[in-house]
Amino acid sequence: MTTLCVKNLVILLLLQAMLVSMVTEAASGNKVKRVKPPKPVKPVQELLTCTSRKSRCYMKRIKCPVECPKVKPKNPKDKACFLDCYSPKCEAVCKSRKPNCNGPGAACYDPRFIGGDGIVFYFHGRSNEHFSLISDSDLQINARFIGLRPEGRTRDYTWIQALGLKFGHHNFTLEATKTQTWDDNVDHLKLSYDGKELFIPEGHSSEWISTEGDIQVERTATSNSLTVTILDHAEISVNVIPVSEEDSKIHNYQIPANDSFAHLEVQFRFFGLSSKVEGILGRTYRPDFENPAKPGVAMPVVGGDDKYKTSSLLAADCALCVFSPNKVKDGHGSPLMEYGMLDCSGGGNGITCKK
Ligand SMILES: *[C@@H]1O[C@H](CO)[C@@H](O)[C@H](O)[C@H]1NC(C)=O
Ligand SMILES: *[C@@H]1O[C@H](CO)[C@@H](O)[C@H](O)[C@H]1NC(C)=O
Repeated sequence: MTTLCVKNLVILLLLQAMLVSMVTEAASGNKVKRVKPPKPVKPVQELLTCTSRKSRCYMKRIKCPVECPKVKPKNPKDKACFLDCYSPKCEAVCKSRKPNCNGPGAACYDPRFIGGDGIVFYFHGRSNEHFSLISDSDLQINARFIGLRPEGRTRDYTWIQALGLKFGHHNFTLEATKTQTWDDNVDHLKLSYDGKELFIPEGHSSEWISTEGDIQVERTATSNSLTVTILDHAEISVNVIPVSEEDSKIHNYQIPANDSFAHLEVQFRFFGLSSKVEGILGRTYRPDFENPAKPGVAMPVVGGDDKYKTSSLLAADCALCVFSPNKVKDGHGSPLMEYGMLDCSGGGNGITCKK
């Protein structure tokens, strides 16, 4: 009787001990599993390298700034990392992927240009004609102007509707398509490469590269914005926009109700133009250029219709055009690029640029 009782007691005690140990284990297990707050993820700063021997940064590995760690940020609003291989500084900087109409190399509005020298000027040209913006031995960029002439005015009001690029033996065109009414969500870009229409699916970061790799096009928004890069020559950021009702009112353009005058706003960056570069915009990058736009004049208009008019979007036949893809390049590239990163601010005629 007593032995049975003791036996039962021992079993009971054993069971209890097991239970207690299980509970403690479970409790301590919970403790171990408690999740630590995640460490803040440090963005990976991409490394950039210039592979052109002409660059002062040739083969150096240069880190993107923390503020813009990526060359192609996922968010279209984020600034991108940019390394100008032809700047003497060899440092990566942050830049907006959209054209900056107040920066050097800009061609916006009824075309208002900011030259490589940082001077603001207007060139009106004529509606439905073509003019050379850049003409260098190995790069030609023409613009087609659209516009209208309200009754009683002495000149056309113009906008840039298309760009024609020639480099080596290749042609590339980029147009804003005509549309009666404007819708931001509809793409109004039309592209072609060597005479064939080029389709790049809509969507941020959607891109195309030529088989030779000498030209690359990347959308910088779902629609109506892109960047064209011609290897070692130029980077061109473009938006398609309509003439706004507000602008039409302010300037009394008298835009008809059946046309939104979709046009381009553009910013060019050039890498290694020669010192002989021509064109409405090109000549402002020459070291010896004296801008005819008088400082202090409210709207400095420069002429040159006769010197820069071409017979088509892809012709290099203007009076001062120097494009000749078979010729070896002369002149020097680098002195001009010091202008490349000018920082301009202000608006209208009050724009000032500093290095
Ligand atoms: C480029 O355009 C010019 C002028 O229209 C044309 O003569 C030439 O054949 C074109 N080249 C290519 C590769 O499409
Ligand atoms: C707009 O209307 C004018 C006449 O009022 C016409 O000449 C022009 O072709 C029209 N434009 C479009 C885009 O339909």
